[in-house]
Amino acid sequence: MRFDVVTIFPGMFASPLSDSIPKRARDAGAMDVHMHDIRDHAHDKHRVVDDTPYGGGAGMVMKPEPIVEAVEAVPCKGRCLRVFLTPQGEPFTQKIARELSGYDQLVLICGRYEGVDERARKAIAEREISIGDYVLSGGELAAMVVIDAVTRLLPGVLGNEVSLDDESFEQGLLEYPQFTRPDAFRGETVPEVLKSGNHKEIDLWRRQKALERTFQRRPELLEAMDLNDEDRRFLAQLEMSGKS
Ligand code: 6GU
Repeated sequence: MRFDVVTIFPGMFASPLSDSIPKRARDAGAMDVHMHDIRDHAHDKHRVVDDTPYGGGAGMVMKPEPIVEAVEAVPCKGRCLRVFLTPQGEPFTQKIARELSGYDQLVLICGRYEGVDERARKAIAEREISIGDYVLSGGELAAMVVIDAVTRLLPGVLGNEVSLDDESFEQGLLEYPQFTRPDAFRGETVPEVLKSGNHKEIDLWRRQKALERTFQRRPELLEAMDLNDEDRRFLAQLEMSGKS
């Protein structure tokens, strides 16, 4: 996977990409990131990329020419998608991360929150993504979130591929609780079933804990899911026992 990031703050990306999974993925050749500074496409010697809004009001708006020309200077052919990061975009989910991980190249375009000129917005990207209902000062952190979430789905990046299936959101559920040694910690011990070696029982316990946790914390996720009869029976029991 090749990521191209179009931004006025290319320096923000160095540190998050030089540790942990993104670093490993880059070292392994599973992905690389190329930075593009919008200011390199400014039309004046002061490298100005923003201007005051027509109609008045607070803040600045990104001028159309530098950002559009910066995006056009990045080759994006074949299995390549241009994504504009904006709080007005579609909410980013694990499902979208999966979809994006199927491309060979993603061009991530970072605006600033006062916005970019509407004509530029329409020209720069096929898709617009937001990472949540709050306002960041620019799309850069959102682009890093997308890079991280997509990179860890690329083949060969995580050592243990099966560990992905059980994660929060992969089955539409929050993940079940995890335990490691020691068995006893500050008066609480690890559930017996996890020490039993009975994998059928362990799988059932984990499924039920994932359902319970999702029911308690994110009940709206259950609406969107294909639940089997056993899941439904378990949730009905939970509701009756008032365990919410
Ligand atoms: Cl993608 N950009 C900005 N500026 N703020 C955000 C966002 C993106 N997603 C949530 N808030």
